[in-house]
Amino acid sequence: MVKINNNYLKLQGSYLFSTIGKKVNAFIVENPDKKVIRLGIGDVTRPLTPTITKALHDAVDEMGKAETFRGYAPDLGYDFLRKAIADNDYKLRGCDIQADEIFVSDGAKCDSGNIQEIFAQDNRIAVCDPVYPVYVDSNIMAGRGGTYSEKTEGFTDIIYMPCLSENDFAPQIPEEVPDIIYLCFPNNPTGAVIGKDELQKWVDYANEKGSVIIYDAAYEAYIRTEGVPHSIYECKGAKTCAIELHSFSKNAGFTGVRLGYTVVPKELKRDGVSLHSLWARRHSTKYNGAPYIVQRAGEAVYSQEGKKEIAGLVDYYMRNAEYILNGLRGAGYTVSGGVDAPYIWLKTPKGMTSWEFFDHLLNTANVVGTPGSGFGPHGEGYFRLTAFGSYENTVEAVDRIKVV
Ligand SMILES: Cc1ncc(COP(=O)(O)O)c(C=O)c1O
Repeated sequence: MVKINNNYLKLQGSYLFSTIGKKVNAFIVENPDKKVIRLGIGDVTRPLTPTITKALHDAVDEMGKAETFRGYAPDLGYDFLRKAIADNDYKLRGCDIQADEIFVSDGAKCDSGNIQEIFAQDNRIAVCDPVYPVYVDSNIMAGRGGTYSEKTEGFTDIIYMPCLSENDFAPQIPEEVPDIIYLCFPNNPTGAVIGKDELQKWVDYANEKGSVIIYDAAYEAYIRTEGVPHSIYECKGAKTCAIELHSFSKNAGFTGVRLGYTVVPKELKRDGVSLHSLWARRHSTKYNGAPYIVQRAGEAVYSQEGKKEIAGLVDYYMRNAEYILNGLRGAGYTVSGGVDAPYIWLKTPKGMTSWEFFDHLLNTANVVGTPGSGFGPHGEGYFRLTAFGSYENTVEAVDRIKVV
């Protein structure tokens, strides 16, 4: 008789967005006349820009002609895209990352979930608390979690790094030494960033201890503040300890198009083994390449026009972020994030729990956000709003919140 992977039974909390969905649907059924504004899920709303859609159309036309038709894409990505990424995201920033250290994929979610496969099961992982849940869940599935403790609301074998207001929501180096450290800046859900000096401390620590940092830079395009690193490879020595994840979802609006990439430097070795070779092997065994059409669209993101248009998209969302931040701060809320990130992290008022505030906002302002406790126990008492809505809806939502 087949045995299932029992680790799946340990998974917690996948109910976050489904619980939100159920509550919102029930509210709409009971209040059909109310306009509910959703500032909850981190999905973009602006359409693809003209340069991107033209690149998609052109690539579709190529696929429709015998002379330019393409079959399977190279497993690790087309050279034209890997080169565009290396030139624009790295060389221009003074980072020495080569095109063949870049692995093109269909997005950062898959890569952030899959990357743990190249590491042994008995590695200890460390995650921020609150955290993007994929890092935790993918390790639970792989059997790295231990058991779930109701008391701590966490897994016994995972090292949680609380991200608290007194540290501007930045994690501190934990007492126990982790083997794998997940960092994400700009952060989902808190919107926090850390400076280059602070990130350098993590890089030095990882090199000293032999740990590996998995650095999720999905929101890098939102960084505005001077001195905040766009890539971990801006730090000295990062090539011997860090893997970096990128997405085209939040900068170029590819959430429905699907494209991302992961950097594994050739210098990154553990136990004398190149992690680059392991990931290349994993990628070419289990993945058949992002579609040609989509990779051409990705290349267009780095064209002169593409860059201008993408900057426009980010500016659009950041205007929303500014409106939320200023509006709520003016109304007396304690808010953070929203300066270098499309997420605003707000402290729930009057000691309400995250879910109590969720219900309160839904019922009084008809605005949907995400309860911070859904991202980890240290998210309790906080609430996440996203800047990914339309400007009009964002203004209306904030104006409603101000008066309830
Ligand atoms: C921190 C973080 N990483 C990765 C992703 C997923 O990106 P993608 O759309 O490329 O899969 C998200 C999406 O919300 C995210 O918040």
